[in-house]
Amino acid sequence: MKALSVFRDYKKQGRKITMLTAYDYPTAVLEDRAGIDILLVGDSVGRNILGYASELEVTMEDMLHHVRAVARGAKQAHVMGDMPYRSCDTPALALENARRMMDAGAHSVKIEGEQDMVDRIKYVVDAGVPVCAHIGYTPQTSGKAAVQGKDIDRAKALIDAALQLEKAGADMVVFELIPELLAKEITNLLSIPTIGIGAGRFCDGQVQVYCDILGLSARVFRHAKAYDTLGQRYEDAFAAYAREVTGGTFPTSENAAALPDDVADQVRE
Ligand code: KIV
Ligand code: NA
Repeated sequence: MKALSVFRDYKKQGRKITMLTAYDYPTAVLEDRAGIDILLVGDSVGRNILGYASELEVTMEDMLHHVRAVARGAKQAHVMGDMPYRSCDTPALALENARRMMDAGAHSVKIEGEQDMVDRIKYVVDAGVPVCAHIGYTPQTSGKAAVQGKDIDRAKALIDAALQLEKAGADMVVFELIPELLAKEITNLLSIPTIGIGAGRFCDGQVQVYCDILGLSARVFRHAKAYDTLGQRYEDAFAAYAREVTGGTFPTSENAAALPDDVADQVRE
């Protein structure tokens, strides 16, 4: 397992960092084998796996359940647990919940928030839990998805937030939906690595929701790229199975054990 602080060296060496969400054991095993650096158990599990309408519905219990599954599948990769809505309302609550995340198998936690979260992130870091910050568009509090930092006041606020979060002890920061050149500026100002989603080419690493890159999501976002059409392939496979079962072509005799003749005779009696 790589400690979160190790990725500062990647930044120094100009080696890009790969992060992908993972929510379950089999996906964690495959991402780990593929050499992904960081498996993020994101609160995006709510929309992508649990069928919730929003991140705001995701609980600590939901997160812990999925962190445990991912941790069982990760051999090389760093496992990061995403702190859900309301889990960091006070410094003490943030630390208590961060510790639960670590006990479930996470190696670090990610906390959304800017200037308002500096005190809580410092408190968690000072107690020994590695933290990745998350600024820009923050689904737990920002409302409707929109690019952040296109005007100078918001851009300056983001620069200031990033500097304060680094000073508070964050080992990494995620930028979600900020203009490419702003992400580049902040990346150059910081010694901790920056990980972008919809933040352009110049971050120290990238994060994506794995469902989006596999083509499992309902749409392909501008910030994403579908490397496969798994949604369609799943559906086709499910439909083929249904056709064969209803049509009597699956299973065949090959798919079941034969009963020895002598036993068969006795069973028939
Ligand atoms: O929950 C999530 O998937 C995230 C990433 C988009 C950074 O927080
Ligand atoms: Na998240």
